[in-house]
Amino acid sequence: MATPTLETQRLILRPLALSDAPAIQRHFNNWNIIRNLAAVVPWPYPDDGAWAFIRHELARAAAGDEVYNWVLVLRAGGGEAIGNIRFRPDPEAPKGNRGFWLAEPYWNQGLMTEAVAAVNDFAFNTLGIESFHVCNAAANVASRRVKQKTGAEFVGHIELLHHSGQSKAEKWKVTRQVWLGRGGPTP
Ligand SMILES: CC(C)(COP(=O)(O)OP(=O)(O)OC[C@H]1O[C@@H](n2cnc3c(N)ncnc32)[C@H](O)[C@@H]1OP(=O)(O)O)[C@@H](O)C(=O)NCCC(=O)NCCS
Repeated sequence: MATPTLETQRLILRPLALSDAPAIQRHFNNWNIIRNLAAVVPWPYPDDGAWAFIRHELARAAAGDEVYNWVLVLRAGGGEAIGNIRFRPDPEAPKGNRGFWLAEPYWNQGLMTEAVAAVNDFAFNTLGIESFHVCNAAANVASRRVKQKTGAEFVGHIELLHHSGQSKAEKWKVTRQVWLGRGGPTP
């Protein structure tokens, strides 16, 4: 199915589009974001990085790959993309099934927790999947907290090279049973 629009209290999660490229290029081209990501992300970030990413993702989806891509937009903002969540529920995916980032000026206001809660609801209520995996660099405290607040259970450590140089990553499992049992994110 196509990526649907999801709504939360403060955010609209709408399907990624090529028109989001200028905002993504501006917000994502930031070492404080990139250093936390797997080393497959290009750095230095190319001038056409956002356009190349969006074209690649849209082509994948058009070719039949099950991949969902949202941009995060503040309801009270001007409509520009301030972040991205990518969800690909392939159980064989070695680096987990979800990636996310938020523009730095918006960190630590609970926005990604709110967005992830909506994506969890979509995964379990709409897609009807039983579980999926997510990962983060072991030193990425903010990403770990988002996972802890949104029903993820720690599985163990894996090797995954990040731009920061860290190759130790945490692997988590999110299950329908736990998520639906808690009825939303926890403080
Ligand atoms: C990870 C990221 C998406 C989190 O988004 P966010 O909207 O700031 O997340 P939230 O506000 O919902 O939650 C962040 C939590 O981390 C906590 N946190 C952040 N930095 C922290 C630190 N240095 N020490 C302790 N806690 C920290 C916040 O206090 C908050 O927890 P709380 O609600 O218990 O107070 C954002 O930091 C980001 O884009 N980082 C760069 C990219 C990235 O790391 N992506 C994930 C790759 S796995």
